Amino acid sequence: MINSMAAKHAVWPKEDDAIFGLAAKAQQAIKKYGKDKVIDSTLGALADDDGNLICMKAVYDELKSMPNENIAAYALVAGQPDYLDAVQEACFKEYRPEAYIKAVATPGGTGSVRHTIYNYTNSGDSVLVSDWYWKPYVTISEEYGRKVDFYNLFNDKNEFNIKSFRESFEKLLNKQKRLVAIINSPAQNPTGYSLSDDEWKQVIDLMVENAKDKENRIILLVDAAYIDFAGKGNERRKFFKQFSNLPENILVVIGYSLSKGYTMYGMRLGAAIGISSSKDIAEEFYYSCAHSNRANWSNCNRGAMEVMTRISNDPKKSEAYEAEKAIYKNMLHKRAEAFVKASEDAGLEILPYRDGFFVSIPCDNAKAISDKLMEDNLFLIPLKKGLRFAVCAVSEEKCKKAPKMIKSIMDNIQKEK
Ligand SMILES: Cc1ncc(COP(=O)(O)O)c(C=O)c1O
Repeated sequence: MINSMAAKHAVWPKEDDAIFGLAAKAQQAIKKYGKDKVIDSTLGALADDDGNLICMKAVYDELKSMPNENIAAYALVAGQPDYLDAVQEACFKEYRPEAYIKAVATPGGTGSVRHTIYNYTNSGDSVLVSDWYWKPYVTISEEYGRKVDFYNLFNDKNEFNIKSFRESFEKLLNKQKRLVAIINSPAQNPTGYSLSDDEWKQVIDLMVENAKDKENRIILLVDAAYIDFAGKGNERRKFFKQFSNLPENILVVIGYSLSKGYTMYGMRLGAAIGISSSKDIAEEFYYSCAHSNRANWSNCNRGAMEVMTRISNDPKKSEAYEAEKAIYKNMLHKRAEAFVKASEDAGLEILPYRDGFFVSIPCDNAKAISDKLMEDNLFLIPLKKGLRFAVCAVSEEKCKKAPKMIKSIMDNIQKEK
């Protein structure tokens, strides 16, 4: 009997996605016990206080008003030109760096991660990622025969650990002479951390210093998937200006996503935005990503591009969209604030939260704690280094309750040891 047909590189453990698995269990509990008895903090999507997915009216009214052919048509391989302009505007706002900038449409932020990893590393190279990380960085790297090395995200003062970043960065760069380093900020998944402008400066100083060796190729991927829910106004975009006039052997790629900011999760649209002081390098980036689009998914969702462009290019629609987003941003902020405060009150240690959809709780036995919490109908995600609580999916009331429940289970497990 044969038990495998796949080529060797395509055989992976028979595991279903853990997050979606836990989300399904939470849904079963809701069916059995009722919504008010269950805390479902599994999925990284904005939900209202009843747990229903939030779908922005400004976005879906626009989509439904469009002629079918604008939704059904193919898009250009690199993306519609007006979308590629609009997405850069949406990403940078008033903080566009002085550089050559080229964008290519991708299916969500995931596509930009894929393109950066595949197109800017050689087979067998390691990509640099923080120890608190979004798992698909590893999945994508593995898919293409790349490895991942980790730096510690936080130092003992709970600030960005530039020392650890520097050590791993220089070790890999010296060995490989090219490096893709990923920083997921602002509003990191899973911790909710955002680098300060000063921490960004330290990262850039380090890159510039290492760019003196002209043999080095330095690629910084800024995964900005949650930027639309970070900070007050556009303050969390200021750091983009620091990508102005960098040495030619530094390429910055912004992974932008419409999944969260436009509540278009399943519509699969985003962009890879390349920033370089060299026109040639920016163009090379564009053609390299366009080739990858054609080879992988041909082109992206035309209807989603149209919606985004129509909203951006019409001041009234744009205002309505921004006003609606501000309501949800505020809701998210209040939930997170409630969770942070309740954690303090309960004596639950959490990682420094600044913005975004998630808060993380460092601990050793995350899986055991998560299993126990499920018995109390609290569903969260166990990670290697702790637990991830999705404030985006849980009402303020429940955000106030959860930390005490988590702390109590953690203490019980500790006692049993
Ligand atoms: C850290 C991070 N990066 C990128 C993404 C991009 O997701 P999508 O491809 O759905 O836009 C996500 C979404 O969950 C994320 O959490």
